[in-house]
Amino acid sequence: MSLGIPIAIAKPLAVVMVGLPARGKTYIARKLARYLSWTGYRAEVFNVGNYRRERFGAKVPASFFDPTNTQGLDSRKKAAFLAMDDMLTWFRDGGEIGIYDATNSTQKRRAWVMKQCDEAGVDVLFVETLCDDATIIDANIRDTKLLAPDYQGIDPDQAVADFRARIAHYERAYEPIACEQTSFVKLINVGQRIEAQHVQGYIQGRITQFVMNLHITPRTIWLTRHGESTANMAGVVGTDMPLTSRGAAYAKSLATFIGEQLPQPGTIWTSTLQRAIQTAAPLGRTTHPLKVLDEIDAGICDGMTYAQIQEQMPGEFARRSADKLGYRYPRGESYEDVIARLDPLILELERQQNPVLVVSHNAILRVLYGYLSDAAREAVPHIDVPLHTVMSLTPRAYGCEVKTTVLDAAV
Ligand code: SIN
Repeated sequence: MSLGIPIAIAKPLAVVMVGLPARGKTYIARKLARYLSWTGYRAEVFNVGNYRRERFGAKVPASFFDPTNTQGLDSRKKAAFLAMDDMLTWFRDGGEIGIYDATNSTQKRRAWVMKQCDEAGVDVLFVETLCDDATIIDANIRDTKLLAPDYQGIDPDQAVADFRARIAHYERAYEPIACEQTSFVKLINVGQRIEAQHVQGYIQGRITQFVMNLHITPRTIWLTRHGESTANMAGVVGTDMPLTSRGAAYAKSLATFIGEQLPQPGTIWTSTLQRAIQTAAPLGRTTHPLKVLDEIDAGICDGMTYAQIQEQMPGEFARRSADKLGYRYPRGESYEDVIARLDPLILELERQQNPVLVVSHNAILRVLYGYLSDAAREAVPHIDVPLHTVMSLTPRAYGCEVKTTVLDAAV
């Protein structure tokens, strides 16, 4: 049983990627694993290419992938079997959602995957990525494949030519998912068109919705807490207090900083609490106050200092210290509740192609930053999110670039 997730899954699920090389399978697989782990599921990626690299070496020529090369075929089959074995062992040890990341490019291979999973009592959802847009494919090769161990130390133009030859070999044998009696989602040209069949139950629906919202357009997400408030000065949790003069000075510095970086139109989200709205006001732009971005609800502890909580409610204080992720303030929220609350916003954040500025609160930004930077769920409540600091996050193909800028808040 997973803790703190909206709905536990009844049966383990294998999400099986399908697609030619450079169609974004690994990008989707990793993002999906991160999203599912963040929401509380035990999720892991099993990448067949990694097994092939470990077993047979990273630097194999394009001819290794020629469907008539029996030795290459045999080695690739072995890598696929090893990855499958590990995934099924992982399921037996309590894994919930395994992502089998490989081309799985023929009906025969997919039938084998189905059989393996079926015999192990694991459901299957195929996610196929199809793309015939040469610009997208080219960008994908240059942004991701040239950085892969397969092409370390190789001239970029030579690497691109070799990778194109690899794709051509796969194309000769590729069979898109057709009328197979399976559950699948097809993403065509990075979500321009979506097809889905037999998507069943809560978790398959969530996965479908998540992958539908992914894109590869680079854009920056800025996260900042509100400027210092009178509640910060008093050291109390929660409340809805205004900015201090230092907080107001930070709001002005933030307006200058964002003005230099955020072209119109950008998206600005704040919480509905006055300290966040006041922090965004000097920006002079349209902002969207969202209740979902309000600070963690401290319940009956709202307005108290931590010293008061420790003195007046030592049991609550101790329970919180022992498990900051799962602890729920009486009549308030836990971090796990906040993660569930922010889940729909993550989909919206993924969908945005414009830069986004989020002006919110300590616990909320820990959760958002934790998702974007792939922090372990248990580490989320302990992430340091200082006042008067902007965190710039730029999601890239295989990770997120993070930059922190401390802004002036002197009065
Ligand atoms: C690889 O070896 O890089 C990928 C294997 C595959 O999924 O076809």
